[in-house]
Amino acid sequence: MRKKLVVGNWKMNMTRAQAKAAVESLVQLVDPKTEVEVAICPPFLSIESVVTVFSGTPFQVGAQDVFWMPSGAFTGCVSTSMLADAGCELCIVGHSETRGRFGKLEVPATTVAYFAESDETVNLKIKALLAQSIRPILCVGETLEERNEGRTDEVIAAQLKGAFVGITAADYKAGVVAYEPVWAIGTGKTCDNAEANRVCGFIREQLRAILDASTADSIRILYGGSVKPSNAKDLFAQPEIDGGLVGGASLDPKDFSEVIQGA
Ligand code: PGA
Repeated sequence: MRKKLVVGNWKMNMTRAQAKAAVESLVQLVDPKTEVEVAICPPFLSIESVVTVFSGTPFQVGAQDVFWMPSGAFTGCVSTSMLADAGCELCIVGHSETRGRFGKLEVPATTVAYFAESDETVNLKIKALLAQSIRPILCVGETLEERNEGRTDEVIAAQLKGAFVGITAADYKAGVVAYEPVWAIGTGKTCDNAEANRVCGFIREQLRAILDASTADSIRILYGGSVKPSNAKDLFAQPEIDGGLVGGASLDPKDFSEVIQGA
């Protein structure tokens, strides 16, 4: 049985004081003996505040992104050793927002090229994280256009293939994968339970071929995209869904604790 994992992705929200207050209430609301593994990925600047509040609890802290080089002239970047030093145990990689694939686009397509994460940089980041013993949460998922063209499985298979170049089963044993349909992120539209389960099962099949069967069967595959208290229980009851990557609903400690309850 794979243990359920629920990860809050705060994205670009929360000052340090707000972060501290949010996790202080979360630790009051969630039983530390919960069977569910829980983590929060705050913005870089509030990682330390969250680590301080979580110390002595089983709750973990992750980052939302990383750069793969160890140090040097890389303005604006943060390395894996900086994340480890700050107390991060996990890191999101290849989120559709860092890939520049937005569910609802409020800027011209030319502007989002700034967020130019590609399968190659995702792969470099995963390798750098594994070398630092930080567990990657690799995100994959299709846009609405790709889904409507019937290309969901093809897109996801290509993202997985690109992400895992040169990575062995032994390397990725503690790693996580998240299925995040781009059209369901921050839009309020959730992928229906059966389809989310099917795609997570498809991801596991791909992992069996890329890594090996026993590793693929032990990797947690999360669903992400408008997970909230009202749909968490049914989504997490699906056999192929091992928990959730939760954006909006992780910002409110009460909502997030109810999502955890759903797992
Ligand atoms: P959402 O975001 O829950 O706000 O849709 C999920 C995510 O992007 O990880």
